[in-house]
Amino acid sequence: MTGWRRTHTCGELGLHAVDEDVVLSGWVDVVRDLGGITFVELRDRDGVTQVVIGPGGAPELVERAKKLGSEWVVSVRGKVLRRAEGTLNPSIKTGAVEVRAEAIEVLSEARTPPFPIDDSVVANEDLRLRYRYLDLRRSKMRRNLELRSELSFRAHQYLVEHRFHEVETPYLTKSTPEGARDYLVPSRVHHGSFYALPQSPQLFKQLLMIAGMERYYQIVRCFRDEDIRADRQPEFTQIDIEMSFVEPSDIYALVEGLFVKMLEPAGISVPVPFPRLSYREALDRFGSDKPDLRFGCEIVDLSEISKGSDYGVFESILEAGGVVRAVVATSCARYSRKDIDGLEAFAKGLGAKGLGWARRTDAGLKSPLLRHYGEDRLNLAFEAAGAGAEDLLLIVAGDRPLVSSVLGGLRLELAKREEWIDKTDWKFVWVHEFPLFEYSEADGRWFSMHHPFTSPHPDDLDKVESDPGAARALAYDVVANGYELGGGSIRIHDASVQAKVFRALSLSDEESREKFGFFLDALSFGTPPHGGIALGFDRIAMLAAGGTSLRDVIAFPKTTSALDMMTGSPSSVAQSQLDDLRIAIQKPKE
Ligand code: AMO
Repeated sequence: MTGWRRTHTCGELGLHAVDEDVVLSGWVDVVRDLGGITFVELRDRDGVTQVVIGPGGAPELVERAKKLGSEWVVSVRGKVLRRAEGTLNPSIKTGAVEVRAEAIEVLSEARTPPFPIDDSVVANEDLRLRYRYLDLRRSKMRRNLELRSELSFRAHQYLVEHRFHEVETPYLTKSTPEGARDYLVPSRVHHGSFYALPQSPQLFKQLLMIAGMERYYQIVRCFRDEDIRADRQPEFTQIDIEMSFVEPSDIYALVEGLFVKMLEPAGISVPVPFPRLSYREALDRFGSDKPDLRFGCEIVDLSEISKGSDYGVFESILEAGGVVRAVVATSCARYSRKDIDGLEAFAKGLGAKGLGWARRTDAGLKSPLLRHYGEDRLNLAFEAAGAGAEDLLLIVAGDRPLVSSVLGGLRLELAKREEWIDKTDWKFVWVHEFPLFEYSEADGRWFSMHHPFTSPHPDDLDKVESDPGAARALAYDVVANGYELGGGSIRIHDASVQAKVFRALSLSDEESREKFGFFLDALSFGTPPHGGIALGFDRIAMLAAGGTSLRDVIAFPKTTSALDMMTGSPSSVAQSQLDDLRIAIQKPKE
């Protein structure tokens, strides 16, 4: 090392610094050797500064500059000069000046990187993940991590200002009931026993309410062994919150304020309060419990209009308690037969038996349903849906959940094809009144839709055991732009209600004691009414950064098959480690 001290970063020199002697340190971004003169673009996290060597520089310096390679780390000592007219570079902050090098020290050389460190070059993702530290040198990725850090800082600040305390909860713990598979950690000391990495700190945060903390938060890593998608990682971060003596509206107000504060640095203004939709309304109107409200295309019900037609398919669906519903594809009357076939294939991919369609242009009504369903009914359907001559009506019949998911999917597909979404728009919504339970045909029993500590809606307490499917929960999700950004609930604080819920879940007393005995004990020692929420911090950061995958905002993420390409984990371990744990690996089945 030269002993020179860096005087400035590569992003801060300007006309104010002309004639100053400076020392810059950073990575060689680009070297341009123009014969008598060499330009080096020197980069650090703050920006890029042009360094000039020659003409007329010491020959040794000129030679050294020519040999510099991309991504070498160097220090440059020199003088700041005003750039000549015609050579200004307004695309960088330091573009009015350059540094004439008087000495260059190479701090470390670099092998040729496997891909260019350049925001405009999209390298193969496996390669980017394998050399993640190089990928993170790209300014876009670095800015994403900086934004993430700022969001996290603001979340801490906001919650502390609102009298919350951060409390850490264990990572080596017992399985938590969030519905995914657990990552297990074998115990060396207690052979045959395992810790589970927490899917969330759910039980601990409730125990902290019983302990009298009143307002807890934690920005915490959670672990779920589930299928990975663009918006799911096996380890991810939650802003986890729990409060005592609250109702849902207290939590809504707190979280709305948190989003306002967090998203400020990303230049996103968040209108509050957020609108609210019941789960049922969200499904009926938008076909999803995480509706994207940045565009309309709401689902309309045509069941009444459809009754009594000659169209046997619809008739039998309606008689069996199903529905006939539609969406209006605005300005899509122009779609060709091929376009419509494409939409039908898409709908079938989501489980629809078929896709009815109709258009009503000057040339008259056109629809495969014309003959049996009839012109009058189609006209009524057009009126009911508010569709015009430019529009295409898309009709799906079947049982209610299926129709919702097909039309919900079609709605999103149309928005994509027709570019209905303004990418700078943010539309938040609370979805509440979720069902308490969902039925699993495969297991032949009810499961908690959220988790078993979620309070039933006070109006539906009597249904918990007598009609579980109709019982609503005091549970809510916060949704933005079609993403579930968080979920929470008011919890059960009464041991007799908890017992009722366990019975509805077909958990025997022994089973519930075996699984949650410590927690049931705690509930019996004076539990305040309490509730909370957990926000998916990676998803929030992804949307704030304008990204489309959580990998855009996680420094060292996993691939879709849960691999860490860089370290090569998961990996086999030494036999001695397995012996310590008394673990034998079975040979894969032939
Ligand atoms: P929930 O399971 O809904 O609730 O999780 C809360 C939020 O965490 C985010 N999230 C994920 N993000 C990235 N990758 C994943 N695999 C992943 N899984 C979930 C989502 C989700 O809304 N204990 C309850 C909260 C509570 O009741 O207070 C819980 O964990 O944005």
